[in-house]
Amino acid sequence: MTEPVTVLGLGPMGHAIADAFVAAGHQTTVWNRSTTRPTPDGAVRADLTSAVAASKIVVVCLLDYDAVRAVLDPIAATLRGRLVVNVTSGSPDAARATAEWAAGHGIDYVDGAIMTPTNTIGTADAVLLLSGKVETDALSALGGTQTYLGTDPGRAAAYDVALLDIFWTSVVGVAHAFALARSEHITPSELAPLARGIATLMPIVIDEHGARLEEGRHGGDYSNLRSAAAGMAHIIHTARARGIDAGVMEAAHALTQGAIDAGHGDDGISRLTVALESA
Ligand SMILES: NC(=O)c1ccc[n+]([C@@H]2O[C@H](COP(=O)([O-])OP(=O)(O)OC[C@H]3O[C@@H](n4cnc5c(N)ncnc54)[C@H](OP(=O)(O)O)[C@@H]3O)[C@@H](O)[C@H]2O)c1
Repeated sequence: MTEPVTVLGLGPMGHAIADAFVAAGHQTTVWNRSTTRPTPDGAVRADLTSAVAASKIVVVCLLDYDAVRAVLDPIAATLRGRLVVNVTSGSPDAARATAEWAAGHGIDYVDGAIMTPTNTIGTADAVLLLSGKVETDALSALGGTQTYLGTDPGRAAAYDVALLDIFWTSVVGVAHAFALARSEHITPSELAPLARGIATLMPIVIDEHGARLEEGRHGGDYSNLRSAAAGMAHIIHTARARGIDAGVMEAAHALTQGAIDAGHGDDGISRLTVALESA
């Protein structure tokens, strides 16, 4: 017997979540601030208070935590005694503050982070991180790998921001690389196969970087910061010469140069993590 669930928020992710609950046989009630977003097939649309009253489990999936608080604050009394699973992305501090707010209103609260796109929800490819007061299987209909990270409600969001740091920094690098390539008359389809090759290096870099940090070992056995700074300088020089913004790489170069100036020029890239921590 599946439990009734309520989903607040029908953006692309909220819609996908509601679809997965319906597909798994849950009686699914949905609410969205604006009425223009379509109702997922098989779900029942309701006003906010009725939607919350319909289920013991309330899944929240909105733009950010300001929106979450704007929506939940006025209905705190109706939420009392229910389980709120908030899968809205945000900072660890915002997650902890929301958990504290929930505890003050007698609401069970679990914070979540969804690490994969909408088309994975309800499939084996979904990846979810959860943390907070209780370990729950309330989202089992969403499928995939669901990892409970313990009682600190900020833990899922902490993983989320660290992982999104890798994602967004990389994606901006991809955007910049295509601009730089096009400025030299290299077409996207010419660059793409080689760009994919660069991306395959990342798992090796991540494992080596992590091992070095764990062991406090930063020697530049394969490549050092002086060499990295020189490589970054070539990119900055070329971008500037072609009128392409070089701000992201300038920031990376300044960080690297700072570590060199502090006497770590012979160290490897893992030294940059230590430099960031002591800045
Ligand atoms: N889409 C993805 O692939 C993906 C992947 C992983 C994680 N996520 C996370 O999932 C969350 C939702 O993402 P999304 O893609 O579904 O859409 P979104 O564009 O991030 O959020 C849209 C939803 O937020 C609501 N909203 C915005 N401001 C509001 C406010 N002040 N009061 C009430 N509701 C408000 C919108 O309502 P209206 O319709 O009324 O504007 C809509 O329901 C985000 O935190 C996102 O980071 C998304």
